[in-house]
Amino acid sequence: MEKYMQCIDCGEKWTEQPIWRCPKCDGLLEIKFKLSAGDFDLKKARKQRLNLWRYADLIPAKKNVSLNEGGTPLYECKNLCGELKVKLFVKNEGANPTGSFKDRGMTVGVSKAIEFGKKITTCASTGNTSASLAAYSARGNLKCVVFIPSGKIAYGKLAQALIFGAKVISIEGNFDKALEIVFKISNGEGIYLLNSINPYRLEGQKTIGFEIFDELNHTPDRVILPVGNAGNISAIWKGFKEFYELGIAGEKPKMTGIQSEGSKPIVNMFKNKKEYIPEKNPETIATAIRIGNPVSWKKAINAVYESNGYMESVSDEEILKAQKLLSRKEGIFVEPASASSIAGLIKLIDKGIIDKGEEIVCITTGNGLKDPNTVVDSCKNEIIYAKEEDVENLIKKL
Ligand code: F0G
Repeated sequence: MEKYMQCIDCGEKWTEQPIWRCPKCDGLLEIKFKLSAGDFDLKKARKQRLNLWRYADLIPAKKNVSLNEGGTPLYECKNLCGELKVKLFVKNEGANPTGSFKDRGMTVGVSKAIEFGKKITTCASTGNTSASLAAYSARGNLKCVVFIPSGKIAYGKLAQALIFGAKVISIEGNFDKALEIVFKISNGEGIYLLNSINPYRLEGQKTIGFEIFDELNHTPDRVILPVGNAGNISAIWKGFKEFYELGIAGEKPKMTGIQSEGSKPIVNMFKNKKEYIPEKNPETIATAIRIGNPVSWKKAINAVYESNGYMESVSDEEILKAQKLLSRKEGIFVEPASASSIAGLIKLIDKGIIDKGEEIVCITTGNGLKDPNTVVDSCKNEIIYAKEEDVENLIKKL
């Protein structure tokens, strides 16, 4: 199957090479396949176990490094369905090897780094990208340097980057600053940038779309997910589009992105029908999406417009409430950024943007154990401190 890189702005085509911006106009790059019906046989693919490499024919890399990513559970949320009057599924990406959807991008991205002969990988990160890149680099025998915003990364993620042996550089300033720095250092010969601006990362992440279709055996009406640096929403959209182009799927879902109220440049653009203006001082309890200048904003807004989707923002309070709700009604524990998809769903139902009866898949992008501090802070008043003699009485009151 013919494949190449193409600029989303000027349309120039490039042969595959380790670049992430168009050499002609600096636009974002995409991997394109010339797809026609019959190029991918889902029936045959289904003979292999459900994980990312089931779709190897549609992935532009040889599998050099893998930890068995993908094949994450798609839960039907019966308790919440009744309450919210929609048919709700949760695709729990927290079940990936390092606990987030980033692993899908990294199995492909780090495999590609090896194919390109790179020796060092790098990224800026709010936490999950660094954890994942560190793990896959370790497994692929590559050195790894990660840049994180000082003091604003959840503990579980920091622990992962450290234990997987990455060089961790803490930058004074936020994620956007760390990304600026990483862009400057990634022009070196042997070093490979693995933020989601790297189009190969998105080729791994598009399999979330494949898997949702594969498991449901049809396309849901809508997919809702958190938006940070804005890669994932366009990746998943690309997955659904490819299955549509291949004639496997008959429909495409409405892509619906959720940002936090304190960092919502794409929501502003969508709602005010204005040009893109970055947020200078992003702030939110959902540190994973505390990003003021999402590098792939254009791909994200294109996905929303093309799919007739929506962009909404939610407050920290709504995020924490949704995190508790999903845990307590369905037994699914996700990190705050991931809970924003549920918070967004509730808000859009209340506003009448989502119709009752719609079939919706919320993507929960990261595992709850990544950020235990936020949970303990928000739930610690629920702890009951008791002496042994009080326990019997307490139990009676349950
Ligand atoms: N959810 C979680 C748990 C994340 O870690 C991220 C991004 C997102 C959602 C947003 O995805 O950037 O593709 O729009 N985390 C990045 C990181 C920025 O460094 O780990 P996106």
